[in-house]
Formats: sequence, structure tokens, C-alpha cells
Amino acid sequence: MKQIDGFSKLTKAQKIAWLCDTYFPNIENAASFFEKYHNADTDLQKLHDEFIENTVSNYYLPFAVAPNFLINGRTYTVPMAIEESSVVAAASRAAKFWQSRGGFHTEVLSTEKTGHVHFFFYGEKTNLENFFNHIQPLMLAKAQPITANMEKRGGGITSLTLVDKTDALAHYYQLSATFETLDAMGANFINSCLESFAQTFREEAERDASIGDKYEIVMSILSNYVPNCLVRAKVQCPIEELEIAQLKGAEAAKKFVQALAIANADVYRATTHNKGIMNGIDSVILATGNDFRAIEAGAHAYAARSGQYKSLSAAWIEGDTFFFALELPLALGTVGGLTTLHPLVKTALEILEKPNARELMQIVACVGLAQNFSAVSSLISLGIQKGHMKMHLNNIFNQLGATEEEKRVLSSYFKDKTVTYNDVAEALKKIRKLEN
Ligand code: MEV
Repeated sequence: MKQIDGFSKLTKAQKIAWLCDTYFPNIENAASFFEKYHNADTDLQKLHDEFIENTVSNYYLPFAVAPNFLINGRTYTVPMAIEESSVVAAASRAAKFWQSRGGFHTEVLSTEKTGHVHFFFYGEKTNLENFFNHIQPLMLAKAQPITANMEKRGGGITSLTLVDKTDALAHYYQLSATFETLDAMGANFINSCLESFAQTFREEAERDASIGDKYEIVMSILSNYVPNCLVRAKVQCPIEELEIAQLKGAEAAKKFVQALAIANADVYRATTHNKGIMNGIDSVILATGNDFRAIEAGAHAYAARSGQYKSLSAAWIEGDTFFFALELPLALGTVGGLTTLHPLVKTALEILEKPNARELMQIVACVGLAQNFSAVSSLISLGIQKGHMKMHLNNIFNQLGATEEEKRVLSSYFKDKTVTYNDVAEALKKIRKLEN
């Protein structure tokens, strides 16, 4: 029976037992699939179990570091959590390349976050405007218990306005608020403020006949589109110092700039190009306990801000200098949430020497730029598959159950060959035949 009531009320052992009975009835000790990933440290296991609901196991991702990121004159070793082979190697390679060319230069352009109370209003617009102007100070005052602490540290609500969205949708208005949340990602803070605004709106509407029940509040929620929470990372070097595999100097710079022009002109290429950037960004976001879905959503919306989805990065030549830069919105936190709970996230932040949110924005942007540099460099020179499949070789070995000795022999055999799954499988078969 695949349908079940009250699953969440079962103990963890009961949940595992139900999964085993339902999906692995013919497998002896199927529970071990889930149990072998449990941590022997019961407190640590409990911590992980309680992050989400219905936990039955842990899902591991490799945690790696990419050293030699020289950012504004300071060297960082960057923690990355990702399953895709070659991403960490690519980041490290680019970091090393730019380390000897002045490193990365970054700038936080803004740190504003946004949220809205979305509602419909069916009365006279001027009545709504008057009502809003009247209750705006009260909405802010009533949110004080939520904002007091943030204000003490220098943050808080930075604006609260009424926005007429009726051009986009009949009767649609917003209470639009902006926030400074300092080192916190701020989702809970923002959503609490917005819900408080909505509540004050309701209470005051009851007292104002011009508003009465002529409105419907639909929802109060932060936006993951944060075009005013922006960071820029840049590298530059004399064109003659650019070296991308067999491409040197002007030839390398020209081809790189061409690749970026294509990513700006074509949505198919732009999407893959930006995916490469997000390979780097998401890995640091995950390692540092931030919300990669929010970052992804915000980055892609930003990439489409002109109406056409484009590259998040840009490359250009000025005189004798090659420039490569990335600009994107990153609403990050280095306090609160998982940052204080997850032991490896704490360790990641320690490896980064406890950055504040602004610093983390800059580090993350550099890893995105580094990743993009490596990917585009491979694409315009040797192609992506050579390096990629080399890194993937080990995964193929593991899929095929190769022994350490077989891996050693096959690695040497594939040293100067293109790697495909089938070729590796065939080569392994041959070795095994010879062995028998
Ligand atoms: C693969 O994960 C990422 C790339 O496709 C990015 C790109 O094409 O720029 C290599």
C-alpha cells in the first residue's frame, strides 16, 4: 500500500520499516540502505534529523576546498559542496591563474532586500492612497517589536510604499518594503514585518469606511528577486599575459570575448553559460549554509532583467587589457539559520575566517567568475569533454565496481584517450578476461 495516513507521526524506525515493506519487500535488511548513512554520534544525527520532516537518512555531498583565491589582496581558501566532478578543480585552476595576475577585485554595489504585501483593492485609488499615507507610520510603529534588535545593529526597514500594479493586473496593489538585514539573510525578519504590515492594514481598514471591505490581502512574502543586493567581481590582465591552453594573448582574448558575445545573444547558450557560473556559486552557497534556490531564482531573474535572458558575466578588451567581470544579486547570510546549526557550515565559515555577509557576497561572486573563466576557457580551446571525462573517470570506475588495481591500470590506459562510459566498460571487461 503506497498510501499512508499519519506517516509524519511514525518514529524514524517505523518510517524506514514502512519504506522497506513498500518498496523493497524482497530485499533482506533493506533498512541498511538508510541506516548505513546514519551518524554514530547520536546528538549530531538528531540535529540533522530535525532540520526537516520525515527524515529517514542523511544525503551526503562531498565537501571540498578551492585554495588560492586572491580577493582584494587577501587570500581565501573557499569551501565548496557539490557532486559534479571537475567543478572544484576548475575553480582552483582559475584561482591560481588569476592569483599571479593581480587576483580578483570585488565591490558590493548594494545590499537592499525587498518584500511585498500583495492585495487587491476595488475602491477609489485616491482613498487607498490617503489611507496608506495615514497608516504608514502606524504600520512601521507596530512592527517595532520585530525590528528593534535589527535597528540596534544598524539595519531594519528602509522604506514602505504603496505601489499601483493595476497596469499588470486589474485591482492589484502592493505594500512594497525594503530592508537592510546586515549579516542575516533575513527571510524570517522580512516575512514577519510584512505580516505585521498586513495585520495593521486590516485593523485600520475596519475603522476607515473608504476602505472597509473593498480589499483582499492575498499574501505577504519577501521577494527572492533582489536587483538592489548586488555584487561585482572582476579580473583583468594585459592581453599578452592571457593564456588559454593553445591560445595565447590576443587570440585568446578575442575568442573569449566572442564566447561572451554569443552568451549575450542566444538564450540557449546564455542558460548553459550561467549554469557554469552557478556551479561555483551554488557550491559555496551550500557549503556556507545559504539558500541556493533563492540565489538561483534571483540570479536568473536578474539575467533576464532586460527582457531577454543574457549572460551574467561580461568580457571586453580596453587598449592592451583584457577584462572579465560578473555582476549578480546575492542575498546571503553569515549569521542565523543553518550557519549556527550545521557543524560543517560553521567549519566552512571558519575556513573563510568568519566573513560578514558583504564579504561572503564577494567571495561567492569570485568563485562564480572563476568557474565561468575555466568553463569558457575549456570550451574555446580543448573542448569540455577531455578534462570533464577525465574527472568523471573515477565515477565511472566506481559505477563499474573497479578495484584499486583496475583503476590504476585503466587510468594509465585512458591518459591520452577520450573517455566514454562504454569504452571504460569494454576496457575493464578485457582486463578481467585477461586476469581469468
Ligand atoms: C557544466 O556543468 C557547465 C558548463 O556547461 C558551463 C558552460 O558551458 O559554460 C561547462
